[in-house]
Amino acid sequence: MKRVLSGIQPSGDLHLGNYFGAIQQWVKMQENHECFFFLADLHSLTSQKDPDALRKQSYEAALTYLACGIDPSKVVIFRQSDVACHTELAWILATLCPMGLMERAHSYKDKTAKGMLPNVGLFTYPVLMAADILLYSADLVPVGKDQKQHVEITRDLVEKFHHHFGEAFAMPDPFIPEEVAIVPGVDGQKMSKSYKNTIPIFCEQAELKKITMRIVTDSAEVEDKKEPEGNTIYELYKLVAPDKADDMANKFREGGYGYGELKKDLLSGIEDFLDPIWEERRKLEARKGYIEEILENGAQKAEAEASKVMEKVRSLVGLR
Ligand code: ADP
Ligand code: TRP
Repeated sequence: MKRVLSGIQPSGDLHLGNYFGAIQQWVKMQENHECFFFLADLHSLTSQKDPDALRKQSYEAALTYLACGIDPSKVVIFRQSDVACHTELAWILATLCPMGLMERAHSYKDKTAKGMLPNVGLFTYPVLMAADILLYSADLVPVGKDQKQHVEITRDLVEKFHHHFGEAFAMPDPFIPEEVAIVPGVDGQKMSKSYKNTIPIFCEQAELKKITMRIVTDSAEVEDKKEPEGNTIYELYKLVAPDKADDMANKFREGGYGYGELKKDLLSGIEDFLDPIWEERRKLEARKGYIEEILENGAQKAEAEASKVMEKVRSLVGLR
């Protein structure tokens, strides 16, 4: 069975982009792969400096994984910082990593271009990500297109390590299903925490309504015929209500439906889609201490796996 590993930074409320771009694939993959899904809390430290917020967001992210259908009886769910070898391996890989490899990383350039303060952790972020992947001998790493380069960097580091010290790692491949769309945010750009344009998986109903009504549209009038493809309202509707997407496309093309009305249809599509996930969350919250228990259990399993690879690496590089 192929090994799968992926993670999300718990640095804000998870949103529909995370759901359709990542979690939905994980839920499918857990049925026929050996999966490790984790909370990349050490990565979050590159931007999150509020300890209470980080604690809360890690808990929320774990709750979200479970509520969305990640099943702890099938996969290992853990917190990155619970397994100390992640930082140890990251250091060893950093000593092999040419500066140029990091300097070319898009994600660092994008984040600093957006005004994020460039700390060293942010710069070497892909090295820690490589350690995450390699400690679990992952064959497949399901990620969004924006993360593909990080998996390529990981592959480069595997080659360098093997060249210098000998075989220690499995060679990972990114897994990016073509049909997984880039989910648009309410402003039409890629939905992302850093653009403040997200539709969260969990929020108050009134808030969800406000956010949906804020979706940016063109100035077409009610009676105008409209093109659905590429329109944020339709693109989101296709994801949350695929069975009814044709009906909405017809409303766009026929004309006579204003964006206000189409947004209301989208809102009810989102609500229907999220309803079972919210219900599951309520059930999970009623089980006091359950999330902590899952994470402790996951940490033990992850540690057992990671320490095997780590021992081999320590010996190959001469630390033991
Ligand atoms: P954000 O951009 O909100 O910070 P992350 O970078 O933490 O999100 O993404 C976590 C996972 O969710 C990654 O695999 C990423 O590719 C996926 N993802 C995030 N936003 C989107 C989106 N708008 N469309 C598709 N996938 C997304
Ligand atoms: N960098 C990823 C993101 O921002 C999160 C992440 C950290 C990750 N380590 C990973 C994803 C290892 C896959 C595998 O989305």
